[in-house]
Amino acid sequence: MTPQSVDVLIVGAGAAGMMCAVEAGRRGRSVRVLDHARAPGEKIRISGGGRCNFTNLGTTHGMGPANFLGENPRFATSALKRFSQHDFVKRVDAAGIAWHEKTLGQLFCDDSAKQIIRMLTDDMRAAGVGLSLGVSVERVGRLGDGYEAALSDGSVVRARSLVLATGGKSIPKMGATGWAYDAARGFGLRVTETRPALVPLTFEAGLLEQLKPLAGVAVDAVVKGGGTSFAEAMLFTHRGLSGPAILQISSYWREGEAITVAMAPGEDVYARLKAAKEENGKQMVHTALGHIIPRRLAESVCEREGVKGKLAEVGDRTLRRLDAAVNAWTVKPVGSEGYRTAEVTLGGIATDQLDQQTMAAKAVPGLYVIGEAADVTGWLGGYNFQWAWSSGWAAGQVC
Ligand code: FDA
Repeated sequence: MTPQSVDVLIVGAGAAGMMCAVEAGRRGRSVRVLDHARAPGEKIRISGGGRCNFTNLGTTHGMGPANFLGENPRFATSALKRFSQHDFVKRVDAAGIAWHEKTLGQLFCDDSAKQIIRMLTDDMRAAGVGLSLGVSVERVGRLGDGYEAALSDGSVVRARSLVLATGGKSIPKMGATGWAYDAARGFGLRVTETRPALVPLTFEAGLLEQLKPLAGVAVDAVVKGGGTSFAEAMLFTHRGLSGPAILQISSYWREGEAITVAMAPGEDVYARLKAAKEENGKQMVHTALGHIIPRRLAESVCEREGVKGKLAEVGDRTLRRLDAAVNAWTVKPVGSEGYRTAEVTLGGIATDQLDQQTMAAKAVPGLYVIGEAADVTGWLGGYNFQWAWSSGWAAGQVC
């Protein structure tokens, strides 16, 4: 079969790959994007509960990106600055997609995440980009000063530039693979240790048994761990703890460490229980605590602390112990739910091998790494898509 020749071959039709394709296509480059999935942008489709939290207004870059993790979080600054959250919002507006800010600067589609995918596929079509679905790369290597890839459909593509855009390992069921990491290693690039992030944490069986009746209970919490803290919602599930605060801390938590949770942050639980006791000592302790935290949680806390009976029957020490059990609850996760449910992969292709303006591999001409495949991981709340748009855009200007 005669090889097809293009200027740019992009592997992965996700958020970053499609953005890169649009930009390169608009510059008049011949571009082919391929993906082994049957549809492009599958993670966009399921993101944000089907409404895609496509960016975050609070994405910082002036002082170095505080909302990103990686060996060198500053690596992301240049791309985030050159194609910012505001630039992406302009595109969303131009496409006539209605959006709203939910909380903490998080922007969601009013209607459906599919609108974002349609915007990108329309833009790719208008820019003359070729999209091949249900195809993967069997072999790829350098050929002269370009690249040659043998595809699973038996065809061969030659390209001047090769863009690795297959994302991370999260949710293998949806087709996530470590292909970009392997390909990068094949070209001599270093890959940092990868681990699931933005993922629910799990606990040992005994504690899990105690927490089971709480499945479905949510609180606004402050969760501390790994040298940082997040004030967001926390959710008890039948497998452990989840919700935004836990997902956020999971990116910082390491095996063997404990996390500390305040389940009524800003509340002086001791003082409130003491006041309740003075007002009505006949009130059950768990009932009084149930005015501060959800009733089921109050019952569980009292049970775990072995506190029974009426407020009049418990002393100050017990009230203080309950205060600590609510606002300084220290638990040791045993692990996380892993890549099966993780929203992102921490780590990836080492950024010191890449040019921060262009995402080009410094030592391998014509090779680019964008999106989650690179060692740049955002917080929950639209930061990961913004990194995909920004890095895809940056590579698209030059590849
Ligand atoms: P992405 O994963 O989007 O795309 C990679 C593409 O490569 C996929 O289409 C895949 O099929 C393809 N591929 C993989 N291996 C291949 C191979 N070997 N050959 C060919 N193709 C291959 N972020 C955010 O900012 N806001 C949000 O609301 C959410 N919500 C969310 C929900 C859930 C459930 C998940 C799992 C993740 C999120 N995220 C998120 C994270 C966000 O989806 C993620 O960071 C971006 O999609 C990363 O974009 P990329 O283009 O790098 O990879």
